[in-house]
Amino acid sequence: MLSLSFSLLLLLNLAAVILAADRFSRGDFPPGFVFGSGTSAYQVEGAADQEGRKPSIWDTFTHEGKVHGDNADITCDQYYKYKEDIQLMVDTGLEAYRFSISWSRLIPNGRGPVNPKGLQYYDNLINELISNGIQPHVTLHHNDLPQALEDEYGGWIDRKIVKDFTAYADVCFGKFGDRVSHWTTVNEANVFVLAGYDGGYLPPQHCSSPFGFNCTRGNSSTEPYLAAHHILLAHASAAVLYKEKYQDKQHGFIGINLFAFWIVPLTNTTEDAIASQRAMDFMIGWYVNPLMYGDYPEVMKRNAGTRLPTFTNLESNQVKGSIDFLGVNHYVTVYVKDDSSKLEMELRNFDADMAVDITLAVTQKDMSSSEVRECTLNCRDASLNQFSITPWGQETQRNSSLEDWPRVKYLHGYIGALLDALRNGSNTRGYFQWSFLDVFEMDGYESGFGLYYVDLDDPDLKRQPKLSARWYKHFLKGEGVSSHGFIELETNLSAHAHHFQ
Ligand SMILES: *[C@@H]1O[C@H](CO)[C@@H](O)[C@H](O)[C@H]1NC(C)=O
Ligand SMILES: *[C@@H]1O[C@H](CO)[C@@H](O)[C@H](O)[C@H]1NC(C)=O
Ligand SMILES: *[C@@H]1O[C@H](CO)[C@@H](O)[C@H](O)[C@H]1NC(C)=O
Ligand SMILES: *[C@@H]1O[C@H](CO)[C@@H](O)[C@H](O)[C@H]1NC(C)=O
Ligand SMILES: *[C@@H]1O[C@H](CO)[C@@H](O)[C@H](O)[C@H]1NC(C)=O
Ligand SMILES: *[C@@H]1O[C@H](CO)[C@@H](O)[C@H](O)[C@H]1NC(C)=O
Repeated sequence: MLSLSFSLLLLLNLAAVILAADRFSRGDFPPGFVFGSGTSAYQVEGAADQEGRKPSIWDTFTHEGKVHGDNADITCDQYYKYKEDIQLMVDTGLEAYRFSISWSRLIPNGRGPVNPKGLQYYDNLINELISNGIQPHVTLHHNDLPQALEDEYGGWIDRKIVKDFTAYADVCFGKFGDRVSHWTTVNEANVFVLAGYDGGYLPPQHCSSPFGFNCTRGNSSTEPYLAAHHILLAHASAAVLYKEKYQDKQHGFIGINLFAFWIVPLTNTTEDAIASQRAMDFMIGWYVNPLMYGDYPEVMKRNAGTRLPTFTNLESNQVKGSIDFLGVNHYVTVYVKDDSSKLEMELRNFDADMAVDITLAVTQKDMSSSEVRECTLNCRDASLNQFSITPWGQETQRNSSLEDWPRVKYLHGYIGALLDALRNGSNTRGYFQWSFLDVFEMDGYESGFGLYYVDLDDPDLKRQPKLSARWYKHFLKGEGVSSHGFIELETNLSAHAHHFQ
């Protein structure tokens, strides 16, 4: 037994010489680089109708039975269990926690009076993090617009949202900003509007035929562009406020978060190369171009025409340069093929304007280090000051097993590839594993991405560490990790399997 594992160890050490960054440790990352994990308010808090919180568009959606009848009324109950969860974070060695504030908990009607209980909750959460040495990275809008604003004026499709969002952000900066290092205004701003205003399959379920299903309101040709425009203006307005009124005193950073897939042309024809650039301009440039240069990409203006709103000079100057960092949620790689025939359709949506066909090339399961490198290096080329990455963790069936080897391999591969990218010039500043706990997901409680399993059959919603939590802890506490480390970990854990129930 001993000699067998000894030779295996030798072999794997040899392999480590060949595979770049197979063996690495926390200390190999540059100073200031931060490792954390994330959740979002609706997905983790629970206490949905308690202590003054009012519904967001996600409460409405789940209560209409749109997620197999599941909802996040209770979910992980972090609202009441945050202290316990922060102890788990300490135990895991997290350096930062990425979470979001529920707008309708803090300002139940979206505008107007602040809920003192909501204020107290986020104050307590942030204080508890700080006193345990964990940096709070706070998102203001993680898909959960207050229902009151949706009812009143259609939420993000009305310019009134800019003023209401800025007032909400002002409360957050004013009350919590002395302790918050990073503010993200909007999570996955690009896919939020595509799912919610084009396909209409996620809240607030706006769409129009033939682009969405069962549409009762909305316009898939125009509203995604309009909502995105207002997100940019709201982001910029909040960022300008932060920079003018708070940043000097509070020394934090402000940014926005986008969904990004790495794009590979399906063939090496010129058409597909151009189509890949076009897809990048539509998916990423849509936001990054205005944020960097003050205007939408030329190809978007050309293809969407008057359906794409325009910036006044004043707006353009506000939006330009309004991010200190870009948050990137990076999950998968896709192939892109030119489909310019879509431009001949009389009624078009975002997809038709983009005029490509997209097929999944690599799922998160098979992501190779080169895709991680490409994605992080490419974003570096946008010469942003800061950039943090929140890859989707490996998905597993929630009930499968605490021994989540696929997630351990994914973490090892992703973080190793990130190290390669950093050594090659990437300016990535942080890594946040999605998610800290098994939270409410788009499919309810079927899939789990957590480092910790949450037992929904237990009245106390007991948390249990998965193998991935142990791996991450091992890494974060400064011990080297390598492929042979998996073997050792596996041996150690199976020797103590009774601890692992
Ligand atoms: C649309 O409605 C039909 C009938 O109610 C339902 O079967 C279908 O799942 C709905 N589609 C979507 C995308 O919601
Ligand atoms: C959506 O807007 C487009 C462009 O203004 C218009 O042509 C179309 O009729 C609208 N569709 C709906 C369903 O209102
Ligand atoms: C694509 O590139 C490969 C390798 O350079 C070449 O063999 C192939 O003929 C090219 N295909 C097309 C369609 O240009
Ligand atoms: C998970 O397993 C428990 C116990 O076997 C069962 O009661 C529960 O319904 C399962 N949950 C899911 C989401 O499959
Ligand atoms: C780093 O970049 C160089 C030059 O582009 C490339 O040859 C090399 O393969 C890269 N190494 C890694 C580990 O990405
Ligand atoms: C395995 O257990 C040994 C002995 O307790 C310990 O020294 C070692 O660090 C453990 N390895 C891992 C990867 O946890």
